[in-house]
Amino acid sequence: MKKILAIETSCDETSIAVLTTDYTVLSHVINTQIKHFEDLGGVVPEMASRLHEENLFVVYEQALKQASVTIDEIDVIAVTTGPGLIGSLLCGVNFAKTLAKIHNLKLIAVNHMQAHIHALNLEYEVSYPLLTLVVSGGHTMLVVSNHKDHFEVVGQTLDDAVGECFDKVARILGLGYPGGPKIQSIASSNVTSYQLPMPKNDNTLDFSFSGLKSACMNLTNQYKMKQIEIDKADFAASFQDVATEILVKKLVMAAKQYQIFNVAIVGGVSANLVLQQKVKAVFSDCLVPSLIYSTDNAAMIGARAISMLEHEKELNLVNANPNLKVDDNG
Ligand code: KG4
Ligand code: ZN
Repeated sequence: MKKILAIETSCDETSIAVLTTDYTVLSHVINTQIKHFEDLGGVVPEMASRLHEENLFVVYEQALKQASVTIDEIDVIAVTTGPGLIGSLLCGVNFAKTLAKIHNLKLIAVNHMQAHIHALNLEYEVSYPLLTLVVSGGHTMLVVSNHKDHFEVVGQTLDDAVGECFDKVARILGLGYPGGPKIQSIASSNVTSYQLPMPKNDNTLDFSFSGLKSACMNLTNQYKMKQIEIDKADFAASFQDVATEILVKKLVMAAKQYQIFNVAIVGGVSANLVLQQKVKAVFSDCLVPSLIYSTDNAAMIGARAISMLEHEKELNLVNANPNLKVDDNG
């Protein structure tokens, strides 16, 4: 059995995990930068890179210590090479290359989106074909996998990602960043009396969230101009209801079209409890990662690397790629 040290720095989480190749997580450290961005309404890329630089070595030492291993016992290093923020990615990639060079270790480049899907392997026996709804801050897509190493995008957002939309609406309501968890907690009363539109491109498997985002901005502006106070809990719940409805509708359409009823939802937005309830009402066996494996984390990077052990790369061929596509191995 081999030991993998996995590194994730694609956005605002500095995370390192140590795993064995049977998906046992020996240690998992996530240093989130959220507190730095809470009041700013979103991630400031420059700051995120600087914080990764400050955190990486500390997180690395914690991960080894918690796993009770030394770097000499590690066989492989896995690192996210994309997609993500270029400055953030470069921090992790350079750290990984340096470690690999100094300790003469194998290096595996991991695609962050593939890793979100492989996070499922940390907790489930995944069977194929699998239809996955990938919903994060940067992506919204439907992916068909006929086997572990197959990722075919069959639908995706034409504009904003759903997580981005949650973050934007939270900002409009003055709830802070990241928007998803804040919207979910304030919306708990489940009163949904604000009328928000469902997108019109209904016959395809693609998504569009810019109309919903604009409708939220317009409606709140109208209320402001008329000096009518917005009921934030109601507004958040109304938005959450429509956003999750769109996701479920397209997931059901894709399942029927591809005749795949073995489904999963992954990525940060899969932590949303209303989304989970709605999806499970249709697909009772739907796979959903635990919270810790749904938002950005290094264990999922290690999980993806497990089926790529033969894909070791020369150090000079491992490069950050902010626009890496989901079917492209990092
Ligand atoms: O996967 P992730 O951690 O990072 C990216 O790869 O983008 O996803 C982050 C996104 C953010 O937009 C955040 O607001 C959203 O996931 N999110 C949620 C919830 N928790 C995180 N959205 C809705 N409900 C949640 N409970
Ligand atoms: Zn992510």
